[in-house]
Amino acid sequence: MRIALGVTGGVAAYKAAELVRRLQQEKFDVEVVMTRGAEEFLRPLTFAALTGHKVITAMFAAAPGEPANVESAIEHIAVAQRIDLLLVAPATAGVLAKLAAGIADDFLTTLYLATKAPVVVAPAMNINMWEHPATRENLGRLRARGVRVVDPDEGYLACGMTGAGRLASHEAILEAVRGALNFVRDLAGEVVLVTAGPTCEDIDPVRYLTNRSSGRMGYAVAEAAAARGASVILVSGPTALPTPAGVELVPVRSAEQMARAVGKHVDRATIVVMAAAVADYRPVHKHAQKMKRGAPDLSLQLEMTPDILAAVAAEKGRRIVVGFAAETERLAEHARRKLAAKPVDLIVANDVSHHGAGFDVDTNVVTLFPRDGREKALPALSKREVAERVLDEALRLKSGARNGS
Ligand code: PMT
Repeated sequence: MRIALGVTGGVAAYKAAELVRRLQQEKFDVEVVMTRGAEEFLRPLTFAALTGHKVITAMFAAAPGEPANVESAIEHIAVAQRIDLLLVAPATAGVLAKLAAGIADDFLTTLYLATKAPVVVAPAMNINMWEHPATRENLGRLRARGVRVVDPDEGYLACGMTGAGRLASHEAILEAVRGALNFVRDLAGEVVLVTAGPTCEDIDPVRYLTNRSSGRMGYAVAEAAAARGASVILVSGPTALPTPAGVELVPVRSAEQMARAVGKHVDRATIVVMAAAVADYRPVHKHAQKMKRGAPDLSLQLEMTPDILAAVAAEKGRRIVVGFAAETERLAEHARRKLAAKPVDLIVANDVSHHGAGFDVDTNVVTLFPRDGREKALPALSKREVAERVLDEALRLKSGARNGS
């Protein structure tokens, strides 16, 4: 999950660096937006180094002496759309006033108006400013709009006074973030092994057999599992996707490599979700040099790849094993046949010829075929939402297995 952390200009700004670390430990991908005031206290480089992302400091960023470009002019919209939560910590009295009044005169305040994500603010300021009726009124307006306010702690303040105004503890801020996201950490203690993406089966140094998998379905499962507290190992064929925060990526290329990587890590896993589109066949010979054009026709001799799902299912033990089924016809019949052929707990079947389902789209339409027969057809959902439902089902089957039902 992605959080934009707005850092504003107060003495407590230095605490935001440690807060970034805590958020990352909780598997959040953090990008930082600094106000002009914050830059008086800290350099953007600190946050860039911690997050690995560019730090946004200005509304119309451009190289010195150059006019602002279109991308920077609409960046607040892009950030607004991609974040799952906006956290402002520390939030000064001035920024709270702007948020309350809807004044959008810099990147952070514009982002606040542009995003539909939940918003959490953690104020920090001098006690008189905190107690001022104007600040109280502004906080009341923000709360009325659904903004979560993490009240400051009491203690010795940078101004030399004692009282309320210190930035709340990182734990209190994290609690509010979890609450705002409706967070469930029901996979804490689980190790989830996910396969994703296509495999590439080389013919020669420049050609290979592959398929249209983008990796999005498997990456969504990995990201959702990590957000719910699991340790996640993602064995992925080649994709263009960034590694989800907090996930251990094991990159592979061929079905053979995927089989080896899964074999190496599966012992640690308590739940296995196999969303990869693994090649069923590979060329018998991989040519060492580029094959030359010549004969009018050419046959490729193919051989079967290892069935990774079957191998994992055969050594299943107490772990929950989830396979996918990519079908273009008679979905239920094929899914049930897969369930009968391999001792897996759940088959997630998608009709990949269906509009908005399967390969290389953001949504999927799946039917869940659990071994206990409680089949469930889901509507068209984002891949992230499908991932959540698959994990819910895996947990249901796990608790069923524990209770012996
Ligand atoms: O990556 P996206 O663009 O988001 O697309 C998502 C998806 C369509 C790839 C995904 O939703 C999906 O259906 N994944 C499974 C694709 C597939 O290979 O299905 P299958 O019916 O051929 O295989 C059945 C199961 O066996 C799958 O869990 C597969 O990972 C596994 N398998 C297949 C072949 C093989 N040699 N070893 C395997 O383990």
